[in-house]
Amino acid sequence: MHRRRFCVANWKMNFNSSDTKSFLENWGKKDLNNKEVKTIFCPSFTELNTTAELLHNSDSELGAQNVYYESNGAYTGEISCRMLKDLGCNWVIIGHSERRAIFGETDEMVCHKLDKLTSENMYPIVCIGETKDERENGKTEEVLSRQLLVAFENQKGKNIEHTVIAYEPVWAIGTGITATIDMISEAHQCIRNIFNTNGFNGNEISILYGGSVTNENAAELSNITDVDGFLVGGASLDVEKFYAIYNQL
Ligand code: PGA
Repeated sequence: MHRRRFCVANWKMNFNSSDTKSFLENWGKKDLNNKEVKTIFCPSFTELNTTAELLHNSDSELGAQNVYYESNGAYTGEISCRMLKDLGCNWVIIGHSERRAIFGETDEMVCHKLDKLTSENMYPIVCIGETKDERENGKTEEVLSRQLLVAFENQKGKNIEHTVIAYEPVWAIGTGITATIDMISEAHQCIRNIFNTNGFNGNEISILYGGSVTNENAAELSNITDVDGFLVGGASLDVEKFYAIYNQL
């Protein structure tokens, strides 16, 4: 399959209903003619329904920021794949560094989530990335490799072309510090290589970059070979900035 390009908005714990409406009504008035780029909005759980309604009949798609890997039962506070699918939500971000660092999400949990999502024919956006310390100690490749191989342990021999990877160096998220072109290019090649040497076809997997992507650096970052799009946090909260990013992909 030909790799696709993506522009993904991670709204994190922002936007109430009126913010969501105002953003998406504005978005709907834009000239969204870049058919090469798939746009996905990932609101908080409480805004999924409103977002689904506002995206109805548009080319943009709906994503969640998290999911639990059990089907149903006594898991207070959690949301299942089926619940998301009921709302027309097929994409889910898993393994985001904020979930790993603040909520204790482990590589093994990411693996369970990936297994569940693929068994439900949903589309995972798997986030991986090294911390500042890990990079400074020359551990970037080791970390990316561990995160990927644990997450994809049960996917061998399966079709993973609908799975998207987001490379997000932890130190670049929400800091205004973007990784350099060389760092991004090296990390994306390294990720493809990890897939290729472990029984997967790394060339068919879309790899996004995330970490302080803005309307000002998007053009330069999108030109990097092996960057298939962006996962955008802060700048996705401003419709003009997000549209400018979309247009530069
Ligand atoms: P940022 O967040 O664009 O605000 O750095 C990216 C992310 O956390 O996905």
